[in-house]
Amino acid sequence: MVYAKLLIIIIFAGAAACGFGSSTKRFSIAESASYEASIFRQNCAVCHGPEAEGKTLEDGKQIPNLREGEFKYTTDQQIYQHISDGGNGMVPFRNQLSEREIRQMVEFVKRDLREN
Ligand code: HEC
Repeated sequence: MVYAKLLIIIIFAGAAACGFGSSTKRFSIAESASYEASIFRQNCAVCHGPEAEGKTLEDGKQIPNLREGEFKYTTDQQIYQHISDGGNGMVPFRNQLSEREIRQMVEFVKRDLREN
């Protein structure tokens, strides 16, 4: 009887530990093999940082965190336009990335960064 109780406790503790572990494991751009992550590493990390946590440039300019905080651009259209046209210190990507790639980056920002 004592053993049965002990077993139940161990099972619950194990499940809790797993659940906790997976919910705190955040998306890693560095470890991701996705195409979007490679675009990010090549084009966006210089300003936004390797994990998109934002940073302050040498001239004091603040680059926003793309994972948390108050997001300035919220709709797909706004995010698309911002990546395409740039502005406020961000360079435009319409000549570097295709329309399809920009759309993929909008999804990447929403799905992989903001949710994680
Ligand atoms: C030259 C530096 C620079 C590069 C390179 C750059 N960004 Fe930015 N990014 C900025 C700055 C500065 C802002 C803030 C613009 C503003 O306040 O309107 C910004 C804002 C953003 C935002 C809006 C955040 C919000 O609050 O809604 C997104 C999304 C974004 N960048 C994505 C990207 C992606 C994706 C790339 C690569 C394709 C990229 N950025 C490359 C400097 C950069």
